[in-house]
Amino acid sequence: MPKNYKGFTSNLIHVGESPDPTTGSVIPPIYQTTTFAFDSNESVLDLMEGRKDGYIYTRYGNPNYTMVEKKIAFLEGGENALVLSSGMAATSIAVMALAQAGDHIITHTDVYGGTFGYFHEVLPRVGIDKSFIDVTDISAIESAIQDNPKIIFLETPSNPTLKIYDIKKISELAHQYGIKVIVDNTFATPLNQKPLDLGADVVVHSGTKYLNGHSDVMAGAIVGETEFISDCTDLFRKLGGNLNGFDAWLLQRGMKTLGLRMERHNKNGQIITEFLEQHSMIEKVHYPGLKSHPQHELAKKQMHGFGGVLSIELKGGQETINQFINRTQIFTRAVSLGSVESLITQSVAAVHYNVPVEYREMGGITEKLIRISVGIEEVEDILEDLEFSLDI
Ligand SMILES: Cc1ncc(COP(=O)(O)O)c(C=O)c1O
Repeated sequence: MPKNYKGFTSNLIHVGESPDPTTGSVIPPIYQTTTFAFDSNESVLDLMEGRKDGYIYTRYGNPNYTMVEKKIAFLEGGENALVLSSGMAATSIAVMALAQAGDHIITHTDVYGGTFGYFHEVLPRVGIDKSFIDVTDISAIESAIQDNPKIIFLETPSNPTLKIYDIKKISELAHQYGIKVIVDNTFATPLNQKPLDLGADVVVHSGTKYLNGHSDVMAGAIVGETEFISDCTDLFRKLGGNLNGFDAWLLQRGMKTLGLRMERHNKNGQIITEFLEQHSMIEKVHYPGLKSHPQHELAKKQMHGFGGVLSIELKGGQETINQFINRTQIFTRAVSLGSVESLITQSVAAVHYNVPVEYREMGGITEKLIRISVGIEEVEDILEDLEFSLDI
């Protein structure tokens, strides 16, 4: 068990790290190898049967994965973690480790578009059914429980509507029926929200976003109890979806500044949404840190900060949206989120393009929603750019 420092960043920097025993290198080497040599022919069986610690083949494990897994598990307060090639690999493997043909899942439509596609198009092909419901409504969850679900999957804050779902309440209800709760904690990060402490069973991440934070690595992570992580490991070794040494190393490096970056994202997100809320061109701002957010009180209870992702609706039609997005300079017009640079996209034009209209409507994903991921630039520069871009 690593030493538990009081500070989030102290743990971020030190957990899973130690100088390389062979060279003293302070920064760990990159194990950019597909395969690992065995001491002897007999040692293969010892490794395969778990009598000896070590590595065999990078799809099975790699020292760079182990280091970053220790860090992620510790920060989320979980027993163990598994890193994978993307957030989608994390979600799909975590779900498949818990559910099989004939099982049922409860979730909501305002999840990341790829996650929606996985639930809506892929799971039915393997005989797993789903209910998309309004998970702010506990009685709707109680009725859906009649279908005997195995999993409740929550993304909170949700994408792109920034709704907040009550992890504690939903987990307590789920556990009365033996249902497991998976939370996608990508938007919040463990600095702002600890789903396992609130009662969830499993956390998944798109490490591509805040965990790495520099738009240069695709990665995913699953955190949970050791036995569950070992089921996930067994599955992903068969299905694929592994990371590689270099990307795990980059993820580990990126994570060391997560605490500092999130403090700035939280501050910028709050200042910018308060500015936007007052602007005459803005119809609506979705951000859990605003008093006007319908679940602001719940957000304050289950989060320690509200992050840098927000969405807005402008007064005017598509032409106004185009003009605003095209006028911005500090914002890069691109999908993704959680990086040091500010990004902007109209949700239905890209991230939620493949979500059918009836499901978009259920989740409140309107044509007008513009998703903004506020970076860590000085807030004055972002405000100046927004002021200019909104002067249409
Ligand atoms: C909340 C959330 N979860 C999961 C994913 C999927 O992650 P990845 O793109 O790393 O597969 C995304 C991607 O945007 C996301 O926003």
